[in-house]
Amino acid sequence: MRSEGRTLRGAALPEWPPPGGSNRGGSHACAPAEEDTGGPGGDHRSVTASGAALPTVALPPSAVTAAVSATITLQQLTDQLQALESEAAAAIGAAADPAELEQLRVDLLGKKGRLSGVLGAMGRLPGEERPQVGQRANVLKEQVQSLLGERLHQLQSSALADRIARETLDVTAPCRYVPPGHRHPLQATVEEILDIFAGLGYRVSEGPEVESDHYNFTALNIPPHHPARDMQDTFYLAPGADGGERLLRTHTSPVQIRHLEANPPPVRIVAPGRVYRRDAVDATHSPVFHQVEVLALDEGLDFSHLRGTVTTFLQRFFGDLPVRFRASYFPFTEPSAEVDVRWRGRWLEVMGCGMVDPAVLEGLGIDPERWSGFAAGLGVERFCMVRHGIDDIRRLYTSDLRFLEQF
Ligand code: DAH
Repeated sequence: MRSEGRTLRGAALPEWPPPGGSNRGGSHACAPAEEDTGGPGGDHRSVTASGAALPTVALPPSAVTAAVSATITLQQLTDQLQALESEAAAAIGAAADPAELEQLRVDLLGKKGRLSGVLGAMGRLPGEERPQVGQRANVLKEQVQSLLGERLHQLQSSALADRIARETLDVTAPCRYVPPGHRHPLQATVEEILDIFAGLGYRVSEGPEVESDHYNFTALNIPPHHPARDMQDTFYLAPGADGGERLLRTHTSPVQIRHLEANPPPVRIVAPGRVYRRDAVDATHSPVFHQVEVLALDEGLDFSHLRGTVTTFLQRFFGDLPVRFRASYFPFTEPSAEVDVRWRGRWLEVMGCGMVDPAVLEGLGIDPERWSGFAAGLGVERFCMVRHGIDDIRRLYTSDLRFLEQF
């Protein structure tokens, strides 16, 4: 904040010229006459023409008359300029900011400023003395201007230096520790499964989670009365814009159909993704879970290829353990099988598979006499839980870091 005390207002320099004391000088509003009691020019008061500047009660009428008609000496003006010079230098040096400097400039050099006051009084000097005062005043004006300029420069550069110091970025400072995160065990399991199949020459294909009845059921040869189509088992959604039935896919098998529609055989794909079923939550069930679908279609593929591929995959994932195939049924494969792995002394059912049913291929316009293949599907949660000995599927979804940080 700018302090009045630092400006020349009210400073010790005597008011000059006095208000109304000279037609040329005009009034000088900056220096209250009441304060005009000391300092180098204090004794000039009696020779100023200012009635207002004088404590009239203390002066006899003759003194006022004398003041009004008084002249001024060269010495007095020179003294005033001298005093102005040192006072200006001090005030400028003490100015704290550019606004204060600007105020000082107005007070010192402005139309009604201190220097104008002195120049106004100059008119009352004898003609031959005026140039001396004029020259001195001009020198002083330039001095003040350059002091103002220097101080402004100083203030600006120290403000800049402050700012630079404040904004400095220490690139050598040690970094703040950010604990590294890691993949969720489910995600890690998906990636591991995909990795194994990638190594066997499979590529990844994906499909939507909101499906139509056609892709989720009909095209997969799932008959109308099949229990999976029941309202109790599947989340049905309001019909789409085209009025078509919509549901949350109950398995990743529809990706087989979508992929074959867009890609003629031969194909080898794995399709990971989220699936939905209207199951009550318990230690082994969740209405949302994850599957990976496998599909291979080529000329001459038979059950031995299915067996070899699935066994290789399971042994890479679980280790070199016994694997067995049990006859089963799925609408979209014929024959079909369930696959078990011997894990810690028990047979664990881990996936379903089979040879792609010719009816599915016919529905796609693919000749089943020429193309054959196999499909398989597995639940990622199951793989993850078996591998890590996790007892409850809910642990995978509750985001408890004490649990997740163990993986
Ligand atoms: N889609 C089946 C399910 O969700 C799993 C499955 C079984 C997928 C056999 C297949 C398969 O591709 O051949 O239960």
